[in-house]
Amino acid sequence: MKTFYITTAIDYVNGSPHLGHAYEKVLTDVIARFRRQMGDTVYFLTGVDEHGQKVQQSAKKRGVAPQAFCDEVSHEFRAMCAKLNISNDDFIRTTEPRHKTVVSRLLQQLFNQGEIYKAEYQGFYSTRQEQFLQEKDRQPDGSWPEIFGEVTQITESNYFFKLAKYQDWLIQHLKENENFIFPRYRQKQVIEFLSEPLNDLCISRPRERLEWGIELPFDSGYVTYVWFDALVNYYSAVEDKPGLWPADFHVIGKDILVPPHAVYWPIMLKALGLPTPKSILAHGWWSINGTKMSKSTGNFVEPMAFADQYGVDALRFFMIREMSVGQDSDFSLNQFLSRYNSELANNLGNLVNRTLNMTNRFAGGVVPAPEESALNFEPERELRALWEKTRDEFITLCEGFQFHIALERAFAFVTATNRYVEQRAPWKLGKSTEPADQALLRTSLATMAEALRLGASLLPAVMPDTTDKIYGVLGYSPTGSWRDSLVWGERLTGAKVAETAILFPRPQAPDTVVAKP
Ligand code: ME8
Ligand code: MG
Repeated sequence: MKTFYITTAIDYVNGSPHLGHAYEKVLTDVIARFRRQMGDTVYFLTGVDEHGQKVQQSAKKRGVAPQAFCDEVSHEFRAMCAKLNISNDDFIRTTEPRHKTVVSRLLQQLFNQGEIYKAEYQGFYSTRQEQFLQEKDRQPDGSWPEIFGEVTQITESNYFFKLAKYQDWLIQHLKENENFIFPRYRQKQVIEFLSEPLNDLCISRPRERLEWGIELPFDSGYVTYVWFDALVNYYSAVEDKPGLWPADFHVIGKDILVPPHAVYWPIMLKALGLPTPKSILAHGWWSINGTKMSKSTGNFVEPMAFADQYGVDALRFFMIREMSVGQDSDFSLNQFLSRYNSELANNLGNLVNRTLNMTNRFAGGVVPAPEESALNFEPERELRALWEKTRDEFITLCEGFQFHIALERAFAFVTATNRYVEQRAPWKLGKSTEPADQALLRTSLATMAEALRLGASLLPAVMPDTTDKIYGVLGYSPTGSWRDSLVWGERLTGAKVAETAILFPRPQAPDTVVAKP
């Protein structure tokens, strides 16, 4: 079976990692972990985009040489991946020789094939998006959309890649591959972009204007346009690893779908005679406290500091639970704390505490075997039926990237288990010496422990540490495949549980990690 090769966008190192960067890595990690659980072999690449005007300007502002600046900021991105428990197999930096040599070789190949020519470029440039703009990118009132930031006019002699001649091929390719882009409706955006004639792509910047880039192999007076350089990372990182290319899945934000990933990238590969990626997932954007995130106004979340304060898994959970993949979402401390308290602490955390507490109080800390005859009573039967439904829906929802609903279902099962515990009230049964009550007590303790084990088994892709902790306090170590572990099967009979567990401590008073609105 082919390895499932998944990537994130590579982030510009012009500033520290922000919530959007953290989200994309966590989302991709959840997909990667889910696929591994389902039995796939996965290869997961992430990294940083270090060349271009934006990075050059930031380095200059700080009075540091670009390479030293990149070394420092890249370190923060790598540290963020480690902190957030991202299971990437590789981390690529575009200043690494392994990347630069591939970019340079591919450029030379296209040049030799006659796919690149020199001409005068007149137009506009957005440094924020590192994008050449055209008149048609203006808004009806003539201004440039906010996302482009400051736009400057440029007139330079440059090299162009013959994009236009592949327009019909790309339109056909999109028609033949309806699942190329997720969510589906974004495919229409690409088709619409292609309804107007494509311009050839300017792929160089004169060295006098931009020094910080990969030199063109056929003209040392120029460096490579940063997008042409950056997109190649997906290929350069695995060129020497047989069986990985083409990528199965590129995860990116909605702002860089059209044109870079959905137009430039497939055409570059086509021209090079390389297979094109199978799918692209474009996620939405986070705002913070209802407005655009911005470091200068303080409307900003430092993902690492936030994770330190509230917990890595709590942050991972919140981002995945709150955002519907593809749509935009808002981050606020209130909403975070509300989910933290109601879903994590008071629902899941409460079930863990109750299970440990009751098992210790009434069964010497060892999960009892359920009473066969009691297992078919209505509350037990209903909970088992809900489990089967929850598990099947959870898997289907994850396969369709509907992680926020999948989590909702998983937590609804935890809620139902808590309700079951209240209904059975083991604390009352434990006071009775009636054999029937004792049988019911054993059954209810076994049922709540098994339901907790199963509920937790849905969570490792999103909350890997929390799942391990729950398994640990239940005295459970999973064996066999993930799918097998999702079968209700009294796996915990005889397991020795821990005395207590603190999974979701009461959060400290909010501090400056999230700016106030
Ligand atoms: O675009 N919410 O880098 P980048 C969610 N280097 N996602 C966000 C976001 C937000 N508020 N802000 C940014 C680049 N992102 C290029 C990519 S790939 C070959 C080169 C996402 O640092 C954004 O959509 O500006 C993108 O997918 C990623 O963060 C990196 O953005
Ligand atoms: Mg950006």
